[in-house]
Amino acid sequence: MDKNGKRVALVTGATGGLGTAMCKKLYEEGYRVVGNYRNAAKAKEWLDKLRAEGYQIDAYEADVTNYESVGQMVKKIEEEIGPIDILVNNAGITRDTTFRKMTPEQWHDVINTNLNSVFNCTRHVINGMIERGFGRIINISSVNGQRGQIGQANYSAAKAGMHGFTKTLAMEVANKGITVNTISPGYIGTDMVMAVREDIRNQIISQIPVGRLGGTEEVAHLVAFLASEKASFITGANMSINGGQHVY
Ligand code: CAA
Repeated sequence: MDKNGKRVALVTGATGGLGTAMCKKLYEEGYRVVGNYRNAAKAKEWLDKLRAEGYQIDAYEADVTNYESVGQMVKKIEEEIGPIDILVNNAGITRDTTFRKMTPEQWHDVINTNLNSVFNCTRHVINGMIERGFGRIINISSVNGQRGQIGQANYSAAKAGMHGFTKTLAMEVANKGITVNTISPGYIGTDMVMAVREDIRNQIISQIPVGRLGGTEEVAHLVAFLASEKASFITGANMSINGGQHVY
């Protein structure tokens, strides 16, 4: 908690579409929100805009693919704001290409940013959560980790790996007041999805029974729900939010 008794929520990859919506929603729900970023210039603009809108959010730099970098960020946040009660592992990238053309770099970039980051961030906050007897770890995966998607062997592997992590850690810390859950969004109206070629994107949208892309605030609503005290019996779960695109 911070010095005013507010629970501290850290959102990684905060400056993206989903991250921004999560930061806003958690702030509106009364949390002390800290956004992690990597690109300082983008983050300054992002923070100025949010503050101008009345969101008193703080932002801290770290490369989530680097264990030491995350450790330094967590130490700084804990010294300057307070211990982290809620961690949203949201940072993620795509390097889409069919597997026959995928380079080692495209593979490693996605595994490092989307999956190894989950180790790097969670490892630095979990023992404090255990000591304090409360914590929420929320891993932002994808429908494409629950099923396959042409062009995303790297991304699907990382996103499926996140939920494997969720299931085991959830069991390990279930009796410590900590929940660990996965959220698997489908296609949401973010820059990441809008980067998919238009004809391919339209074809994907035609497979979503709700008939549209999801809204970032819809995913943020689910994050806030899982972060709440009353969600304490939900752990090790994988929550789909995909407009009916993948039902199983
Ligand atoms: N469906 C069926 N077949 C496909 C295909 C598709 N979507 N994409 C490619 N193929 C086939 C091609 O027809 C081709 O077949 P043949 O060799 O038999 O002719 C073969 O695969 C190889 O194609 P290419 O490697 O040349 O494919 P490409 O370069 O034209 O396109 C791609 C590949 C860039 C991956 C493109 O398919 C694409 O962008 N797909 C969408 C990927 C996607 O959904 N990404 C999600 C990004 S958003 C996100 O990730 C958020 C989230 O969590 C949901």
